[in-house]
Amino acid sequence: MNTDTPAPSGQWTPQPTPPMPPMSPAPQPGFVAPAPAVFPPADAAIATWGLTKTFGQKVAVNGLNLAVRRGEFFGFLGPNGAGKSTTIKMMVGLLRPTSGTAFIGGVDVWRDPLAAKAAMGVLPEQLNLYERLSGRELIEFAGRLYDIPKDEVRHRTNSLLNVLMLADDADKLVVDYSVGMRKKVSLAAALIHRPQVLFLDEPFEGIDPVSSRVIRNILRDLTASGTTIFFSSHIMEVVERLCTRVGIIQGGTLVAEGTLAELRARAGGSGAENRSLEDIFLQLVGADTREGGLEWLE
Ligand SMILES: Nc1ncnc2c1ncn2[C@@H]1O[C@H](COP(=O)(O)OP(=O)(O)OP(=O)(O)O)[C@@H](O)[C@H]1O
Ligand SMILES: [Mg+2]
Repeated sequence: MNTDTPAPSGQWTPQPTPPMPPMSPAPQPGFVAPAPAVFPPADAAIATWGLTKTFGQKVAVNGLNLAVRRGEFFGFLGPNGAGKSTTIKMMVGLLRPTSGTAFIGGVDVWRDPLAAKAAMGVLPEQLNLYERLSGRELIEFAGRLYDIPKDEVRHRTNSLLNVLMLADDADKLVVDYSVGMRKKVSLAAALIHRPQVLFLDEPFEGIDPVSSRVIRNILRDLTASGTTIFFSSHIMEVVERLCTRVGIIQGGTLVAEGTLAELRARAGGSGAENRSLEDIFLQLVGADTREGGLEWLE
């Protein structure tokens, strides 16, 4: 157990990630750090404390401390390989942290996974779907897992199929679905039990502009009615349009976190208030966008 990282006292607010605590003895597989007494904060729908994942020598996520309030639309950004999907997998109970833990609505995902999972919907990065089911069967199956009455499942499934423009393909097998259709049917399955917290790992990848608008509207309506959404994306315009708060992770460490206005202020410089999220992102991750070295291709 790490005793070197001071437990937060009083009202806990997200802090920049503290320095990696000395790892001695080496964390055991399955090690979960106990949460400090004042953690998670009462208004947090999602909270992580010291969330860490190592793969061999590689520290994929490094002591992530984060709190997302109820009803927030939180955008999680970072370059390829930064640790976004690894973080989400640990938050939703798909990948056991090396140390630290995550809470959903105050429930520790790794101590009480069933209660935590009942409250969440997940659209993972890699969609492992039951290929031999039809789209309709897949959504209904997801609904039945949550003990929703059959008639209600049927009603919700039909409305999701209609809104997501899958009705014409509802009885086709998932194995024959296109990339975008697979994503939409997975989103429907994640929504069927009306989760309080929704995790979406790159939900707009492979989605056409019409469906993208439909999904944006669904997500907006959900947050307006109190659902908390945590999503990762590389599409800066969408994040800018939807998110109330943004976190940027790089090399497994949270390098910035706040509202768009706060991130702009932090980026500083003349005209900072008009900077696009893309500019802020490139500045904060210290991207080197110089081209060159591909003369042989020209
Ligand atoms: N199962 C694994 N075994 C070994 N290394 C892994 C594993 N999963 C992820 N990693 C490594 O962890 C780091 C973070 O990966 P992750 O998938 O979380 O990145 P990401 O931010 O989601 O990237 P992208 O934007 O490309 O989806 C990468 O260096 C990746 O190679
Ligand atoms: Mg990813």
